[in-house]
Amino acid sequence: MFSRAVRPTVGLARSLSTSSQNHAKVAVLGASGGIGQPLSLLLKNSPLVSQLSLYDIAHTPGVAADLSHIETRAQVSGHIGPDQLGAALKGCEVVVIPAGVPRKPGMTRDDLFNTNATIVANLADACARHCPEAMICIIANPVNSTIPITSEVMKKHGVYNPNRVFGVTTLDIVRANTFVAELKGLDPARVNVPVIGGHAGKTIIPLISQCTPKVEFPSDQLTALTERIQEAGTEVVKAKAGAGSATLSMAYAGARFTFSVLDAMNGKEGVVECAFVRSEETECKYFSTPLLLGKNGIEKNLGLGKLSAFEEKLVADAMGELKASIKKGEDFVAQMKVFPFTRIPLPLPLPPSLLALLVLAVVAIPPLFSVSVFINK
Ligand SMILES: NC(=O)c1ccc[n+]([C@@H]2O[C@H](COP(=O)([O-])OP(=O)(O)OC[C@H]3O[C@@H](n4cnc5c(N)ncnc54)[C@H](O)[C@@H]3O)[C@@H](O)[C@H]2O)c1
Repeated sequence: MFSRAVRPTVGLARSLSTSSQNHAKVAVLGASGGIGQPLSLLLKNSPLVSQLSLYDIAHTPGVAADLSHIETRAQVSGHIGPDQLGAALKGCEVVVIPAGVPRKPGMTRDDLFNTNATIVANLADACARHCPEAMICIIANPVNSTIPITSEVMKKHGVYNPNRVFGVTTLDIVRANTFVAELKGLDPARVNVPVIGGHAGKTIIPLISQCTPKVEFPSDQLTALTERIQEAGTEVVKAKAGAGSATLSMAYAGARFTFSVLDAMNGKEGVVECAFVRSEETECKYFSTPLLLGKNGIEKNLGLGKLSAFEEKLVADAMGELKASIKKGEDFVAQMKVFPFTRIPLPLPLPPSLLALLVLAVVAIPPLFSVSVFINK
């Protein structure tokens, strides 16, 4: 057993602050998954979190029971299935969403759209109802579409605040820092490469020219490094050979981003993270750039900064794909139907005959049921 003196603390060397107020309720939606479990572990181990609410459609009671035995302050609750989603979200200040299917070899992030769009839309819908003021951090892919989806769902409820909806791209920054440090023999914890654009293939744009400390590469090495950062997710998907995508490094990155959001909410100054957000910085409605975070989410968008010619071309090349992914997300929400009685959003247009049948069932079954109860008395 570890003595108290040597008990390991959260290993997020870069960003973990212990100086803050520390009263946040944080929810993880998709908490039983490959990302959700280690992410929940890191959050449970943080003094910034006082309540940790774990939601999934499977296995959350076990994950919550397990984590609840860890000797840290955060109270853990487990919630399973849509009936318990409201309770999971009530009072949350931050919601992190890794729910959804991951890639298998040969798949692009956009191939996940059909499944994950519905999952994210329903979870965003629940956030809009139960914790409309929360900071919402979306990990589920394709991030380039799931952020527009979340934003449009929040708009439908009249609770959209663009300063509080984030697509988590932190893993791209984490990878860029690591790869640059490896090539230059630096301590990765001291390297910072902003990564802008989106979170898929060529929309991932590392700004090596803005790296601190300053680094330089010959052009062939710069091209290879940029491509490695853009395809690093695929590197992991291939290595896992069908067993999913990045989970442990993503949990680290998700925790780093969540701690930054919490630190800033607690009044820490100068907290900067890149994330995919509503943006006026380019002709794309959503774009990732470094953001100054504050008590209410994004305090200031720090923009793209000065780009090299190489990086300007990367931005130009990304625009078409980014715009198409954003539109795909917006169109998805525009065609969602809302079931009139439960107000559960339905992602597919229902044929009128099926809709009529459903309405009849909802209207007719409760009175029939009460008649039969009355007769049986
Ligand atoms: N943003 C990034 O940088 C990044 C990096 C890696 C993975 N991802 C994405 O994160 C997502 C999760 O990946 P994973 O490896 O953890 O997958 P996983 O399959 O291991 O876990 C997903 C979890 O979501 C749960 N889930 C499914 N539908 C749900 C619903 N309606 N409500 C709540 N929970 C639900 C599942 O039960 C499962 O526990 C994927 O979409 C993946 O592509 C993003």
